Amino acid sequence: MQKATNIVWHAAHVTPEQRQAVTRVNPAVLWLTGLSGCGKSTLAMALEDRLIERGHLAYVLDGDNVRHGLNKNLGFSDEDRQENIRRIGEVAKLFISAGVMAITSFISPFRQDREAVRTLVGPGAFIEIYVDAPLDVCESRDPKGLYKKARAAMAAGKGMAFTGIDSPYEPPVIPEIHVHSDRQSVEQCAEQVMAYLQQHGHLLPVADLAAPGGGRA
Ligand code: ADX
Repeated sequence: MQKATNIVWHAAHVTPEQRQAVTRVNPAVLWLTGLSGCGKSTLAMALEDRLIERGHLAYVLDGDNVRHGLNKNLGFSDEDRQENIRRIGEVAKLFISAGVMAITSFISPFRQDREAVRTLVGPGAFIEIYVDAPLDVCESRDPKGLYKKARAAMAAGKGMAFTGIDSPYEPPVIPEIHVHSDRQSVEQCAEQVMAYLQQHGHLLPVADLAAPGGGRA
């Protein structure tokens, strides 16, 4: 809901092309979605590494990290998750305006919330990546011990609205990219995404920084 009145949009002078000349990406949001423990953050960091190493500006927005700051007033009710994703969608849109490839790593369990971000950022700028690993695999990995906690809470009759246990996860219907993180390595998943970005014109040619005299005095 829009609360403020008497606000006027101020247009930037710098054009998207000028920004892209610096950042070397045709920007979009790489929207990673999947269960807790499916490998979203690991893949997000691997993608950020590759993009930066190859000269393309990218930045990861990670669920656990953003919940320490911008979204620290949000919990895990359906409403709070919706607001979490709405804010991240807006932040991703700002990154795209800045000419930067945004990589988001949030469970984002609700289809409707993800589709709202797709609409917000506009056609071609929302690249949904389904990081797919079955619940039993994620639960057996349990890197943060949270599945164990969620099962214990259930057994005690309390519940903690944990995704996949007592809160739903709605998988993407037609994601732009579908990786199987239970049987593909991190490297394979990352290269699948990089190939997609290359094919769809998101990676702009970069001058060879390592070449003799490559821009350095
Ligand atoms: S989302 O559902 O709103 O998209 P988000 O990705 O920001 O979730 O945060 C998920 C992370 O919070 C998990 O990886 C886990 O570490 C932690 N977490 C704590 N409680 C819960 C819960 N009830 N359900 C899911 N994740 C939780």
